[in-house]
Amino acid sequence: MPIVAPTPENLARAAAIIRGGGVVAFPTETVYGLGANAFDARAVSQIFEIKRRPSFDPLIVHIVDEAMLARVALPLSDCARQLAFAFWPGPLTLVLAKSPALPELVTAGLGTVGVREPSNTVARALIVLSGAPIAAPSANRFGHLSPTRAEHVQAQLGNVVDMIIDGGACERGVESTIVMLEPTPTLLRHGAISVEEIELLTGPLARGVSDGAAPLAPGSLTHHYAPRTPLRVIDPHGVPHLQRSDAAALTFTEAVDGYADQRMLSPNADMREAAANLFTALHDLDARGLARIDAEPIPATGLGAAIMDRLQRAELGRAETKPA
Ligand code: TXA
Ligand code: MG
Repeated sequence: MPIVAPTPENLARAAAIIRGGGVVAFPTETVYGLGANAFDARAVSQIFEIKRRPSFDPLIVHIVDEAMLARVALPLSDCARQLAFAFWPGPLTLVLAKSPALPELVTAGLGTVGVREPSNTVARALIVLSGAPIAAPSANRFGHLSPTRAEHVQAQLGNVVDMIIDGGACERGVESTIVMLEPTPTLLRHGAISVEEIELLTGPLARGVSDGAAPLAPGSLTHHYAPRTPLRVIDPHGVPHLQRSDAAALTFTEAVDGYADQRMLSPNADMREAAANLFTALHDLDARGLARIDAEPIPATGLGAAIMDRLQRAELGRAETKPA
């Protein structure tokens, strides 16, 4: 798909793609984003597939008004409200308590969601016309630089995205600053709004990261949901029956007998569907409080690699942390 100009016709087509479960690259004031309807888990799974991310990372949800904010997050604390009032629309992402209606893949199973209201007029038009909040990471392949022009997106993702909207060079050219509100206001990523500006309102922020490039100290911050129930990666179909009755099974395509509970990620062996179901399945099984979750290994190709990464981390009991 070629790069298209942000004409009313093209924006209407882009919005139709979003509503239809597709993925569109679009400009924001920070960097280009790779967007999908935040309420369509399968569409969101395609973002990870396109980015070839070897793991799932929580995505930023882009909104345009209070009504949309209320669909993705629980009511804001006074501090969050103050920051939104001061810096939205603009390059500040607030990590807020998530609405239960938002698919878990968007937030990598976390109870929180990163939200921002972009100021870029093309981004806003796309969200308004789509009628949906748009989940979008930066529109680059995993491990590559964030794109600040449509040509950068074209070079990395030109043959795999449904549309690239050309909004010219991004004004800011660096990603949004990310602030987590609870339990204490914390800077998670330096970005286009300086910490000093934010601290004028919040007072000193705790620091979750030193800078956008450095990994967090493992364990200092949970960027992924970690199940409390011990999990092992093993094919449940081969587990002795005696070990099944007090445990849960997470399978890929086929049901299994004898477990106290089970979830199937995708009866049709569709990786996108499997990815879309992963976190909800883990949460559901974890909530049963059983002795163990036996999770079937799945082919580690495409999205399967990200799913396996998640399962292996759960097996090791690590709440992995990552650079934004
Ligand atoms: O400027 C930006 O923020 C751009 C444009 C497109 O809006 N987006 C962007 O997204 O930089 P991305 O995915 O490249 O970086 C977002 C980072 C994630 O990697 C994650 O570390 C953090 O935001 N994040 C998102 N939701 C979070 C949450 N609930 N808790 C903690 N961190 C979160
Ligand atoms: Mg990024």
